Amino acid sequence: MIYFRSDYSQGAHPEILDALVKSNDVHTDGYGLDPLSDEAREIIKEHIGRPDADIHMMIGGTSTNVTTIAAALRPYEAVVAPLTGHIYVHECGAVERSGHKVIALPTEDGKLTPAHIDDAWLLFEDDHTVVPRMLYISNTTEIGTVYSKAELVALREACDKHNMYLYMDGARLGAALTAPGNDLTMKDIASLVDAFYIGGTKNGAMIGEVAILLNEEIADHYRWMIKQNCAMLAKGRLVGVQFTKLLEGGDNSLFYEIGRHMNLMARKLKEGIEAAGYGFSGQSVTNQIFPILPKSLIEKLKENFFFYEWAPYDEDNAVIRLVTGFGTTEAEVNAFIAALR
Ligand SMILES: Cc1ncc(COP(=O)(O)O)c(C=O)c1O
Repeated sequence: MIYFRSDYSQGAHPEILDALVKSNDVHTDGYGLDPLSDEAREIIKEHIGRPDADIHMMIGGTSTNVTTIAAALRPYEAVVAPLTGHIYVHECGAVERSGHKVIALPTEDGKLTPAHIDDAWLLFEDDHTVVPRMLYISNTTEIGTVYSKAELVALREACDKHNMYLYMDGARLGAALTAPGNDLTMKDIASLVDAFYIGGTKNGAMIGEVAILLNEEIADHYRWMIKQNCAMLAKGRLVGVQFTKLLEGGDNSLFYEIGRHMNLMARKLKEGIEAAGYGFSGQSVTNQIFPILPKSLIEKLKENFFFYEWAPYDEDNAVIRLVTGFGTTEAEVNAFIAALR
């Protein structure tokens, strides 16, 4: 069975595993208050150009989203997200459980624009409604598209106009920042958003994400919020070691090498599928692609390949999702294309 199911279906990139093994015998304090996590913090601060950033070792995406959103918002405040957004569709109502409404708005391509913010404020405007106070975006989006610098600048301006926080979910930031045509850098992001996280789990790490808070209001008592949201990892050092390995070397680091590899493998898959005469749903430029295939063919492919059956398309066809990971090989890509043909 060949896996195109997700970018977290293998263990960890060998260099990360090696770094974990090398740090194995060292004794440290727990909960991310240790020299190994501090080393990662320094590397990240340097790379994002923000020595003032407040940086936390986190266990996963959902808990980082819930903790950050709950840390930012007062009880009557809400977060605006795309209808396809992970916090709206795939987090089992975890944000709502923290007491904050998710205002989900339809988009053309998974991306929010300043017009969406205006729409949210038209819907919610007085003391009988919640107040849209935060904008949630993810880069890549849930459907593989990426934000340009101009789009992020426009969102920042729109958020400022409405006194809103801008939060970026970076579960797949490595794939986003290495996508063809991308013009955003980690430094740009850190200068434009109030908070974001860098995803490790989907970018070669065994486990973990790093939350980066750039606004003192969100950073206030954030560790208390992490603990109360059951998101504090006793062995926070494991995330620290992995992020040091991922980001040491900055623009030339393993983090970007893995992103580029995943995108390249997805591009090759896409070209092979296109050449075989099939089309796609959406305009993904990253490591998740969404081919539209005949249902009978999907059943045959399932015998040897494991992937997500994403959405119905029409009577005869359906959309599947193929995702490449740090360990995806060209031989696996070629095997899929050969089977398709
Ligand atoms: C954009 C995005 N955010 C958050 C998550 C949630 O991460 P986790 O499964 O670690 O909670 C995912 C996972 O699929 C994701 O794609």
